[in-house]
Amino acid sequence: MSDFVTIAKVEDLPPGERLVVELGRHWIVVFNVDGEFYAVEDNCTHEEYPLSEGTLDGYALECVKHGACFDVRDGKVLAPPAFVPVKTYAVRVENDDLQIAARK
Ligand code: FES
Repeated sequence: MSDFVTIAKVEDLPPGERLVVELGRHWIVVFNVDGEFYAVEDNCTHEEYPLSEGTLDGYALECVKHGACFDVRDGKVLAPPAFVPVKTYAVRVENDDLQIAARK
């Protein structure tokens, strides 16, 4: 079972915004897409570049370095040059707290 960690208040991450947090030895970027929260490792699987600097179009997160694209809902690759999915983390809301799973 996953351990959930509080990373922020829900109001700290309004729709359309993103938040970068450190959890253990990992950097994670959390997105609010129309009121739903998604978290992925802040590291492109192509050449290790921060995905938090990327552009988000719907659920598609494009890395600014070479244009690889990932689905923030499940981490799947939508466009090369990356071929390995990015790690995702479960997100939940407990009262006013935004929490992510330490491990998925
Ligand atoms: S580092 Fe992200 S596409 Fe190359």
